[in-house]
Amino acid sequence: MAAPPPIRVGVMGCARIARRSVVPALQAVPGLRLAGVASRSADKGREFAAAFECAFLGDYAALLARDDVDAVYMPLPTGLHAEWAAQALRAGKHLLVEKSLAGSLAEAEDLVALARANRRVMMENYMFRYHAQQAAVRKLVREALGEIRLFRATFGFPPLAPGDFRYDKALGGGALLDAGGYPLQACQLFLDGDLRVRSACLNGPPGGADLWGGAMLEAERNGCRVPAQIAFGFDQFYQCGIEIVGQTGRLTTSRTFTAGPDVVPLAVLETPGRKTEIPLPTDNHFIRLLEAFERRVRADEWEAPCEENLRQARLQDQVRRLAENPKERSP
Ligand SMILES: NC(=O)c1ccc[n+]([C@@H]2O[C@H](COP(=O)([O-])OP(=O)(O)OC[C@H]3O[C@@H](n4cnc5c(N)ncnc54)[C@H](OP(=O)(O)O)[C@@H]3O)[C@@H](O)[C@H]2O)c1
Repeated sequence: MAAPPPIRVGVMGCARIARRSVVPALQAVPGLRLAGVASRSADKGREFAAAFECAFLGDYAALLARDDVDAVYMPLPTGLHAEWAAQALRAGKHLLVEKSLAGSLAEAEDLVALARANRRVMMENYMFRYHAQQAAVRKLVREALGEIRLFRATFGFPPLAPGDFRYDKALGGGALLDAGGYPLQACQLFLDGDLRVRSACLNGPPGGADLWGGAMLEAERNGCRVPAQIAFGFDQFYQCGIEIVGQTGRLTTSRTFTAGPDVVPLAVLETPGRKTEIPLPTDNHFIRLLEAFERRVRADEWEAPCEENLRQARLQDQVRRLAENPKERSP
């Protein structure tokens, strides 16, 4: 049977993450085709287009007006996602949006309503969920840890370059919407069940973007409440991992969120009297996520990502509300 025509993807903005990881991955997925790039700057757009042998499509509005673009990859600063994602959905495009999807729960809910109304797939680019190491870790947890008694996840790194949009609140900056999204996703990936944030803190200059923080969560599982702790930030010692303590062992991994295709992630498994290093599979999680995006577009599977987007936005909203109003803290 002949392969279906490729899904044509336009890139909105010459972002570093697009250049470094997502566009090369997109070009490696046979069912997707890089249709071109849009930019605020014609010079930058032409240079990017030449580097990836694709068309420069003009500004963002020109990209959305094109009939020969089926889907948009949107790596804009987080504070611009709500406006441009809404325009893309109204223009009938499927959407792969960089994390975080939006700056607030209300914005995320509006976008999800638009995705549903237009029956378009809208996915948030938490690529690490699709890395083969995660399935291997879940198997180890099942086989060696028994019931989970504590889950921990941390993602944080040293200060970013001055001028980075992540320091600019107006552009959707702040650690919660950036690094903080990953450990919240990890809680969802490894703790099935109803997750709630019980307490949270966010720290940063008064009136400015939050720079670091953390939260305590609980997952309701089989009538029990399983604790989870997360920490995130961008002024700290580099951390990128999870720790899972079970009834019969403890497992850690340290490249949970960022293992590139040349990295062999390692799990350390401790059981009574024994400590073992276990190599986990290598993978290109950007390619895996793009394959999932393609499958969902071809299968008209727009509802499942809507639910995923809402779950994540609700957890981020709970963290922010509890950090800003500690008196709301659960007893
Ligand atoms: N999934 C991941 O692994 C991962 C990793 C890093 C970042 N991200 C996410 O990807 C997005 C972009 O991050 P990045 O570090 O790649 O950002 P970046 O290099 O600063 O790129 C952002 C792009 O947005 C466009 N833009 C439009 N208005 C802008 C404004 N007012 N200020 C700055 N840029 C503006 C620019 O493109 P033009 O000038 O060409 O229009 C710029 O190149 C963020 O949402 C971030 O959270 C995801």
